[in-house]
Amino acid sequence: MDKLVITGNGPLSGEVRISGAKNAALPILAATLLASDRVVIGNMPHLQDVTTTIALLGQMGADITVTDRMHLEVNASTVTSCEAPYELVKTMRASILVLGPTLARFGEVAVSLPGGCAIGSRPVNLHIDGLRAMGADIEVENGFIRAKTDRLKGATLVLDMVTVTGTENLMMAATLADGITVIENAAREPEVVDLANFLNAMGAKVSGAGSDTITIEGVESLGGGSYDVMPDRIETGTFLVGAAITRGKIKVRDTDPESLDAVLQKLREAGAVIETGDDWISLDMEGRRPKAVDIHTAPYPAFPTDMQAQFCAMNAVAEGVGMVTENVFENRFMHINELQRMGADITVEGKTAVIRGIERLTGAPVMATDLRASAGLVLAALATDNDTLVDRIYHIDRGYQNIEEKLEGLGARIKRIAG
Ligand code: UD1
Repeated sequence: MDKLVITGNGPLSGEVRISGAKNAALPILAATLLASDRVVIGNMPHLQDVTTTIALLGQMGADITVTDRMHLEVNASTVTSCEAPYELVKTMRASILVLGPTLARFGEVAVSLPGGCAIGSRPVNLHIDGLRAMGADIEVENGFIRAKTDRLKGATLVLDMVTVTGTENLMMAATLADGITVIENAAREPEVVDLANFLNAMGAKVSGAGSDTITIEGVESLGGGSYDVMPDRIETGTFLVGAAITRGKIKVRDTDPESLDAVLQKLREAGAVIETGDDWISLDMEGRRPKAVDIHTAPYPAFPTDMQAQFCAMNAVAEGVGMVTENVFENRFMHINELQRMGADITVEGKTAVIRGIERLTGAPVMATDLRASAGLVLAALATDNDTLVDRIYHIDRGYQNIEEKLEGLGARIKRIAG
């Protein structure tokens, strides 16, 4: 297993380019299963989760060509298998995203149940209930979700809670259903909007994405098309916190400032001077130590749970006390123990972490437990005066393209050691 060694090296400075969004790329790749023709997708990030999804689609029989560094061509008309096996699903929960499109297009599907993960139990009952309401016959047996249907039927679906991949699965399935589907209490995440735009580029009739009510008028078939994946707002936020934590000054390019309102607001509260343009954000701490901020995670447009660990790291070296409350996942404080090993003063009370900022953290061997927790640890390591060894960084490779090259470009001292 590879490890990262990070040596605290003062403020980050310079420019960094943001890659395509993991959480948009994965549903868009799954949605190619709906198309009867060739689809070309641009701004595809180079990430382990994308590789896993390509392997899954390939195993199902889709014809996939990487045309250049960031473009993929997918032809799903050659699909022969409608199964997502345990070996792939266990490495990437987002494999559940093939459930809706495969069922809608081919009339059957078997997807291994994702099970628990480091951040909680994460059930998929709302995906299943929604497809059942659209007429699918679904059994959950031997660790698999097995579904069959003739053509799905449009239905009104009121989601019990806001779920991102649940909304995406149902929206994809509804594009080929007979009649109109309305998803109420839908997730409003920008990645849901990106997926809807992609579906519409292939001929679907989706409206209302980005609001809590999405309406999908089913069509007979979807054609091909081409589409560029949106920029990654979480990667963007991670670099910005990296600059804040090191009292630095950076410019982030190829991003979408509008998708980061809640995060930018908290960084401003922490004392950052922030400017934005169409596709860039600059952050300048003017040499100051960040101020601690209170965070409450919740579905978009509120503060994203995927930025929670990074802000915990920032609060750990900030001036004052920050209360971080995790409302989306039940067990997403695994990074706290590791931050404590680096000297952070944190107590957890239920779903709130009370973080008392100290002047400097100290490097220590730490272990990544999930994707965003690892990002938090890497940022914390930048704010030390010595070496931090981050183990199990395969989690980072799932969601951050070239993280060490990009951080090095901003002046960080970081190197990968093959395990
Ligand atoms: C997606 C993102 C992930 C992000 C999360 C929340 C992708 C690939 N992943 O994950 O990065 O952290 O949104 O913004 O886009 N729930 C149920 N039943 C269900 C579905 C969800 O109880 O059927 C619960 C979950 O356990 C969780 C909450 O709903 O507590 C939100 O989860 P959800 O939005 O579904 O997360 P994901 O789509 O898995």
